[in-house]
Parts: sequence; C-alpha cells; structure tokens
Amino acid sequence: MGFDKHISESAFLVNESRARNVDLSRDIFAHLWVDDSTQKLWDDFSREVYPHDEIELSLRNRFFLDCLNSHINADTSIVFVNVGAGFTSYPFLTNKPCRCIEVDYAHVIDFKRKKIEGWQEEGIVPKRGIDYIAADLNNKLEMEELGSILGSHLKINHSFILLEGLTYYLEMPVLRNLLAIFSELQVGDSILTFDFWTPDSADHPVFIRFREFFSKRFGYKEARYNLFDADFVRSIPGYSVVEITSIQDLEKVYSKTTFLSDYENILPEQYAVLMKNA
Ligand SMILES: C[S@@+](CC[C@H](N)C(=O)[O-])C[C@H]1O[C@@H](n2cnc3c(N)ncnc32)[C@H](O)[C@@H]1O
Repeated sequence: MGFDKHISESAFLVNESRARNVDLSRDIFAHLWVDDSTQKLWDDFSREVYPHDEIELSLRNRFFLDCLNSHINADTSIVFVNVGAGFTSYPFLTNKPCRCIEVDYAHVIDFKRKKIEGWQEEGIVPKRGIDYIAADLNNKLEMEELGSILGSHLKINHSFILLEGLTYYLEMPVLRNLLAIFSELQVGDSILTFDFWTPDSADHPVFIRFREFFSKRFGYKEARYNLFDADFVRSIPGYSVVEITSIQDLEKVYSKTTFLSDYENILPEQYAVLMKNA
C-alpha cells in the first residue's frame, strides 16, 4: 500500500500509530491500512522524529471519536463530514450509525472506496452510508463543487465537520476559504472541529525533525506549514469556541500515563471544537 513520496502517504503512517494503541484510540480497523512498508516507515519516524506518535495519534482519534459520539447521541440525523479523511475509520467506530461524507484527493478516495467496498463484501467492516467526494482543496473549481454538494446536506441538518491532520498542510487562503464555505453552509449549533499547530512550535525540536522527515520521505517542502494560534481560532467568523485543548491535556483526561509531560519530546498539537452561531 502507498502513494510514493506524496503527503497522502502520511495517512497510512497515522493508522499504524492508532493500530499500536487500540485501547486508547478505539480504532479496531486502523490495522487494515498498514503493511510491512508502513511499519518500517513508522519505525523510522519513531526513531528519527519522536517515539510517542502511537500515544498522540491514539489520543487524537479518541478525542474526536468521543466528541462525534456525543453529538450523534444527541441527534442521530447529524451529518458527519470528514475533510482530508485519509484512512480514518470513524463511520465504523461510532456508537450509532450516521450519514457520513468523506472528502480527500481523488487518488485517496478511489483507493479507499475500493478497499472499503471489498472489506464490506467480506464482512470485515460493517456496511454504513458513506458518500465519498474527491476534491483537491487547492483547486478553486473543485472547492466550489464541494461547497454545492455539501450544501444539499448541511443546510437542512445539524452537521459535524472534522479536519484532522489537515489544517497545517493547507495554505492560509485555502483554509480561510474552506472555513467561509462551512460557515455559510452549516446550520446553527453545528460543530466544526480540527487540530492545529501554533507558531511557537516552529522552533520546537520535534517539529524541526518532523519537517525534515516529511521533506525527505514525502517531498513536503519545509516552508509550507500553516501555523496559527488560539486567537485565530477564536476569530473564525460565524463560530464560537466550545473548547481548545492540547495533547498534554488529553493524556491527563484519557490515560494514567505521563509520557507527554516532557514538552521537549512531544509534537505539541492543539485541538479546537467550535459551534456555529445561530
Ligand atoms: C496527515 S493525513 C490525515 C488523514 C486523516 N485525517 C487522519 O487523521 O488519519 C492528511 C490528509 O489530508 C489530505 N489532504 C492534504 N491536502 C489536501 C488537499 N489539498 N486536498 C484534499 N485532501 C488533502 C491527504 O490526502 C491526507 O489524506
């Protein structure tokens, strides 16, 4: 499995982290997306960048899954939109089924859809109502089409939009455009959630090694990361912040361990949950 030297390759890597810590991540399907080459890539990443990705990615998955579950429990007609969905398994992990829309590059969507359909035929993953949308978020025309497809769902239902492992890979004008589209489409009390990296992490030793690794392995240029802070999150038009938290806080909530208490040895990720204003 793999998309050689493309940023989408990282979507396999994160699943190896989730698969290594299922007790924490609750992602019982992550292992389906990894093979020997992903495990080798993960070992290199762990040695060359930092050793705690299995904890961080599992905590991240758990946080977003719990958040999604609590909103589905409150309203089963909610539409779940996962942008830059990669090979996440949320539609199969939620307590109750809900309508799911997954968005990613065409090569990721085509690959994922075929795999999922095959696994559903074999009974390996449950059947769920998933719509797949192929879109390059950097392409203006494809963004407009994405907006009009999403509009038919989001304008009439509460929705839960997730951008996981994505905001730092999008140029700021692209991210702003995406947020403006969501704000126009989501009805009041809908949820928008994402992870983000702050500007002060630019000098963090783990982040410096991360950039080098992604440049070397995925051809992802080091200057391209989009970093922003909580003030930016609080200023997103049309939304109010429900929660902003950090990976260190998530370890305190979900785990008895203290692996992430040493700031110098973590990837300092933040998480935001926003609610659409009425
Ligand atoms: C680090 S992966 C995260 C995948 C998944 N959300 C997760 O947490 O496992 C980043 C994902 O964003 C997608 N992505 C990045 N830039 C994109 C773009 N311009 N258009 C569409 N998808 C994009 C990649 O293909 C990949 O699936």
